Amino acid sequence: MIPVILSGGSGTRLWPLSRSHYPKQFLPLVTENTMLQETLLRLDGLGDIDNPIVVCNEDHRFMVAEQLRELGVIPQSILLEPVGRNTAPAVAMAALSAHSPDALLLVLAADHVISDVASFQSSILKAVQLADSGALVTFGIVPTGPETGYGYIQRGDADAAGESYSVTAFVEKPDLSTATAYIDSGEYYWNSGMFVFRASRYLEELGRHNPAILAACQKAHQNALVSPDFTRLGKEAFAACPADSIDYAVMEKTDRAVVVPLDAGWNDVGSWSALWDVAGKDVNGNAIKGDVLAVDTGNSYLHSENKLVAVVGLSDMVVVETDDAVMVSPRSRVQEVKQIVDLLKAAG
Ligand code: GDD
Ligand code: MG
Repeated sequence: MIPVILSGGSGTRLWPLSRSHYPKQFLPLVTENTMLQETLLRLDGLGDIDNPIVVCNEDHRFMVAEQLRELGVIPQSILLEPVGRNTAPAVAMAALSAHSPDALLLVLAADHVISDVASFQSSILKAVQLADSGALVTFGIVPTGPETGYGYIQRGDADAAGESYSVTAFVEKPDLSTATAYIDSGEYYWNSGMFVFRASRYLEELGRHNPAILAACQKAHQNALVSPDFTRLGKEAFAACPADSIDYAVMEKTDRAVVVPLDAGWNDVGSWSALWDVAGKDVNGNAIKGDVLAVDTGNSYLHSENKLVAVVGLSDMVVVETDDAVMVSPRSRVQEVKQIVDLLKAAG
């Protein structure tokens, strides 16, 4: 099985720490290792694992190579995208570069937290058996609320062992009222964003539901420039590829999906508030990173990169200080950081 690590996202909701030139997967947000490194480390002991394929943006190649080197991980390849085209093409490029069309791919996001590694690995092992017999395996998280940033998987019939379920429907990022109805029904999981399938089965399904993406990726594969350290995907072909996520392009449409439940302390750390959730906290419920003085302050995320950050009388707040920006927000409103990023983009 080949781990395929998707490392091309921009992680804008963790602004000002996560930037386009330094997105969250390359930051040590939760432990002393970066998120990418943690993703690789939690595969230790999984058994029959090949060297990983990492798919990332050209601009991040040295960061990726260095972070793998620090762990002593030798990649099968580091595939460099000239531009981001979202995850459906990224996974296709990995599938096309697998050593055998029958190879099993374990597709992983590079920026998740999983606290129970044993349970994660046991779900993966269940998925391997199902993928061996041709399924596109997803991992279902029991939802805790009507989040609209996730894919929703409707559970169908259980297998004989009760370890996996058929997928009745897969809906990527529904609106709030739809998500609320899903939660109320009790029939849905969140999609974890990790998958196991054969390379050939993924390409077949992509070709069936999105032939333009498959054709562009095949061309980018043929025109790739391979050097000892990196594989540069064919620039023109990849740039001409339609952008779409694996969730919309394949998982919503395929009838070969199955879902394995995952109960492993999964968190996609999609916001400062999620980061506060998974971080270690002091007796006052504060998660503190760097040089911070907190007086009469509780349940807050306080992060300093350079200066002394001193706060008095805060509760349920987020304060993040970096080289060139300071962000302050109530913990309940940190999703709106995205609006700041949009404003900055508009201002050029
Ligand atoms: N190589 C590459 N190229 N990687 C990418 C690209 C790209 O263009 N875009 C995103 N990625 C990487 C991200 O770095 C991340 O590791 C992973 O692919 C998933 O992308 P996100 O952008 O974080 O997706 P999402 O969080 O909105 O949604 C996905 O994950 C959710 C769970 O966290 C979906 O699979 C949802 O269905 C799922 O619920
Ligand atoms: Mg994500």
